[in-house]
Amino acid sequence: MKTSTTGGRMRIWDSPVRLFHWALVALILLAYLTAEGVVFSMDAHVLAGEGVLTLILFRFFWGLVGSDTARFSQFVKGPGAAIAYLKAARAGEHHPHLGHNPAGALMVLLLMALAAAQAVTGLFSADDILTEGPLASLVSSSTSGLITEVHGFLFNLLMAAILLHIAAVVFYLIVKKDNLIRPMVLGVRAAIPGVAEPKFVSPIIAAALLALAVGIVYGIISLGG
Ligand code: HEM
Repeated sequence: MKTSTTGGRMRIWDSPVRLFHWALVALILLAYLTAEGVVFSMDAHVLAGEGVLTLILFRFFWGLVGSDTARFSQFVKGPGAAIAYLKAARAGEHHPHLGHNPAGALMVLLLMALAAAQAVTGLFSADDILTEGPLASLVSSSTSGLITEVHGFLFNLLMAAILLHIAAVVFYLIVKKDNLIRPMVLGVRAAIPGVAEPKFVSPIIAAALLALAVGIVYGIISLGG
């Protein structure tokens, strides 16, 4: 581990995580606006969903072999650590974290799981008129109908989780005076005394994993003929 904290700042998020995050935000917004009929057609909705699936698959790979702050093994600490963190936070303690804090980590996993479930159910969904997910033809129309209902229900859960996520980020900004948004944009934050900079893995490996995710999702979609 390096201990360099150039100019009182330290790098915490690599470019793959940041690109993943903001691309996910853009695609979920696009999926929402297309589903509501505000922009483009439902074809764009299906493409946005396939894009979300690709991003989540990429992030899963990156969570296994990516940079320190991206790795599940580094930031997933379990409910016990999350509760202890929240209790300390309630008592007024605030220790900035290198990457996700234990409670934020659970939220991050929930967001990823809901986004993945939303995209996977979308593959099998159909509106009985014009739009069909790429794998809807592989299941009966009653099964597809049921999955479509789950797809709609999950959307509400995802929206609730996103609102909570944004509220938490705004809470940190205003109450804790800890700006988490800037690092998610620029990659750097104010140095945390006594904490070393994390280890970063080359973005070339991330690009290869993204290509692998694209290939896998393309293969899955092709199963629908
Ligand atoms: C404008 C709205 C949003 C803002 C300002 C925002 C901000 C942030 C910030 C600051 C973090 C890092 C938190 C930390 O330091 O631990 C983060 C992480 C994350 N956010 Fe958001 N977010 C937004 C919208 C969304 C949306 C719509 C999603 C969709 C599901 C999302 C999913 C995630 C995920 C999965 C992570 C973890 C990133 C990773 O480890 O790769 N965010 N967000």
